Amino acid sequence: MPAEPLLHIRDLKIEFRRHDAEPTLAVKGIDLTLQQGESLALVGESGSGKSATALALARLLPEPPATIRAAAMTLAGHDMLTLKPDELRKVRGKEIAYIFQEPTTSLNPVLTIRTQIGEALALHRPDVSKADRDAEIVRWLDKVGIVQPEKRLHAYPHELSGGMQQRVMIAMALCCQPKLLIADEPTTALDVTIQKQIMDLLADLRRELGMSIILITHNLGIIRSVADRVAVMFRGQIVETGLVDEILKNPQHAYTKALLHCVPRMGTKQPRLHAIDYELLKTG
Ligand SMILES: Nc1ncnc2c1ncn2[C@@H]1O[C@H](COP(=O)(O)OP(=O)(O)O)[C@@H](O)[C@H]1O
Ligand SMILES: [Mg+2]
Repeated sequence: MPAEPLLHIRDLKIEFRRHDAEPTLAVKGIDLTLQQGESLALVGESGSGKSATALALARLLPEPPATIRAAAMTLAGHDMLTLKPDELRKVRGKEIAYIFQEPTTSLNPVLTIRTQIGEALALHRPDVSKADRDAEIVRWLDKVGIVQPEKRLHAYPHELSGGMQQRVMIAMALCCQPKLLIADEPTTALDVTIQKQIMDLLADLRRELGMSIILITHNLGIIRSVADRVAVMFRGQIVETGLVDEILKNPQHAYTKALLHCVPRMGTKQPRLHAIDYELLKTG
């Protein structure tokens, strides 16, 4: 019998209700399965439902305004549809971690790196004693490529570059040893050379730690080093899924083809998504 998948989602629907507007079905019944150690790129243009999906799977979307329905949603053997709040909190710390686009909004500006990573360790790593905490923080800072980590321990976020801040975020997420890392547009705010360094770092760490990654992006150009498979989202649905190499070589859906045309060239920061030709999609 094959091992139980790390993540299994069937027919996930996410609706948002606001009292001043009609409810909108942002995610329209998607299926996703991820084996232990397997990594997936979730790609699609802005507003297609990628972040809502990623947050919903750890029940991190505020409900309301969101309503989450699914035929199944399990993460590391936990039924995420029925877990009680205190059990959910444990699963979140232990099994899954997130990094987001803007490290500056996730890091607390008035606390040192040591305090912030230390808090994560205190919460989720009972195996690390208080006396060993600094050594563990330094070990993770070193792992994510921060030079002279002992010195950086006492730095505040603003004393670090954007790329360094994102490395700190990765250290903070991974020091809890999650089975699944969700990286939601982790490099969109960074320039192209730093983007590449962070992607290479994620690929290395993934190999070393054997964890799974869901990399969310609207840039098909950066997924190859990190992901095995790709799922393409378009307006709340998965319109195409397969191995990264196959989809990059031979995209089937018109939207995927359009996305591939938008891969940014070196030296530009954002894919030019406005260039998507929606007329093309009607025939696709
Ligand atoms: N908290 C929310 N309240 C209302 N609508 C939301 C909320 N979060 C997301 N949405 C809507 O759901 C859709 C999908 O959003 P999102 O998942 O953030 O897209 P993506 O991450 O692919 O850019 C969008 O139309 C967005 O406006
Ligand atoms: Mg998003």
